[in-house]
Amino acid sequence: MPIIKTLLGVLFLVASLSICAQKFDGLALTPPMGWNSWNNFGCDVDEKLIRETADAIVVSGMKAAGYEHVVIDDCWHGERDSLGFIRPDSKRFPSGMKALGDYIHSKGLKFGIYSDVGAKTCGGRPGSRGHEYQDAKTYASWGVDYLKYDWCNSEGLSPLGAYTTMRDALFNTGRPIVFSICEWGDNKPWEWAKNIGHLWRTTGDITHCWDCEENHGTWSSFGIMRILDKQKGLKTYAGPGRWNDPDMLEVGNGMTINEDRAHFSMWAMLAGPLIAGNDVRKMSNETREILTNREVIAVNQDPLGIQGFPAVSADGLEIWAKPLSNDAWAICFLNRNNETKDVSFVWKENLIKDDSAQRHLDSRQNTYNIRDLWSKRSMGTTENPLRATVPSHDVLMLRLSK
Ligand code: GLA
Repeated sequence: MPIIKTLLGVLFLVASLSICAQKFDGLALTPPMGWNSWNNFGCDVDEKLIRETADAIVVSGMKAAGYEHVVIDDCWHGERDSLGFIRPDSKRFPSGMKALGDYIHSKGLKFGIYSDVGAKTCGGRPGSRGHEYQDAKTYASWGVDYLKYDWCNSEGLSPLGAYTTMRDALFNTGRPIVFSICEWGDNKPWEWAKNIGHLWRTTGDITHCWDCEENHGTWSSFGIMRILDKQKGLKTYAGPGRWNDPDMLEVGNGMTINEDRAHFSMWAMLAGPLIAGNDVRKMSNETREILTNREVIAVNQDPLGIQGFPAVSADGLEIWAKPLSNDAWAICFLNRNNETKDVSFVWKENLIKDDSAQRHLDSRQNTYNIRDLWSKRSMGTTENPLRATVPSHDVLMLRLSK
């Protein structure tokens, strides 16, 4: 009998653990959209910046276009109090995080924050190691809706274990919090994180250049094309509630308008999170127009959540394809060259197949109407060859619908 009792006990424990241990479902059913402080402001964050940014997201039309989460990245932290509760830097956030969260919510936006699996964040602030449940509860009491959880100072930790602990801690609070895994793709999170986080970084940090690698000694940051190339092979891991994250946007941070447009288009094609990383209080009209192009955003936010892929190439251009709902497709001609390219593309000679999603773009059997999503004009149908000119480091992004 004692054996049966023990077995029943073990079964009960396993059953209750599997009930407790899950991520919040029903969140991030399309790629998360929002803004994050890191790419432009680094550690220079304070409550004035965050409030003004929330205001600007509303006034600029970004909120109406779908941007939702306002995420404070590294360096908001002060010290832990005598009981171990984390407090914000009192000089930079004198009103406290609850008040800031309330302000963000009053604008109809959501509140995001950052921490790290280690004892210290990448910026040397207190990390969550050993304080996971306490921190999750604190965030929930501040009204946090999104946590980006970094991987600095993680020596000796198992990524699966460390991220599962925080997932469970968040779930335990009862507050739906989007969980953004920022492990830089080091341990292939796409293979183990789909039941842990809602998105996972696939690479090291992005930087605002077209095709460079910046060496920082022990680590590198990568330009847009470098990051794009690192997404190879990851397509099938993405879907509603579980996204590959090619890192936050650099639109408006110093590249040319063509490059910004190509960057934004490719992140839309990848079904990547659209987390703006520029100073939205002071952005140019061109930057605003890129970030708020609703037709491009609709490609990113398509409910099927199928990640795009490089399908064919022609005239020195990469042609990316992304199946959309209602048998529509997004097709993006990417010009990585240093010169303008003329393209002539015969739809009927190019069948585009997405084997993993079992979708085919067959222009022999169907006629599609073509719309240019940047010039916002019709470009005829797939009955005729497409003729176009694509500037250097730019795209021609199309939507094909029956
Ligand atoms: C890491 C992350 C970045 C940013 C910084 C903050 O480098 O990958 O996105 O959060 O830490 O220190």
